[in-house]
Amino acid sequence: MKRLLGLYLVITAGIAATGSSANEEAVASNPEEIVANVCAACHGQDGNAMITGAPKLGGQRADYLTKALGDYKSGARNNPIMAAFAAGLSKEDMKALGLYFSKQASDLYTPKLR
Ligand code: HEC
Repeated sequence: MKRLLGLYLVITAGIAATGSSANEEAVASNPEEIVANVCAACHGQDGNAMITGAPKLGGQRADYLTKALGDYKSGARNNPIMAAFAAGLSKEDMKALGLYFSKQASDLYTPKLR
């Protein structure tokens, strides 16, 4: 009987483990959708919006962008606008968003320095 109980526990633990990983996949980040719904108004879908004050994200390094989002969320980087938008992002979202914007073309150019 004890052996049966042990077996039962192993099986349920296994089911719980696969269940949770399947769950994570179901809620996996969809950066394109997050950008369309939340970020595009200011940054543009490709991260190259022409809105004054909203920095260009297209073509920037993924790790830089992901860190910036994490810093807004933690408060290490203090900006009330971005703090509000980063608050709802998970770590996976922030990684996915950094990667997404890094893959977009940048329309930045090197201006003439004065
Ligand atoms: C209401 C406008 C607005 C929205 C919506 C918005 N942002 Fe921002 N974002 C800003 C502004 C303004 C800054 C500059 C803040 C600062 O000076 O630190 C910024 C900065 C950033 C930076 C740092 C860029 C850099 O060069 O350091 C990242 C990354 C970023 N936003 C990503 C996002 C993502 C991802 C979303 C959607 C989840 C989003 N933003 C939504 C206005 C916005």
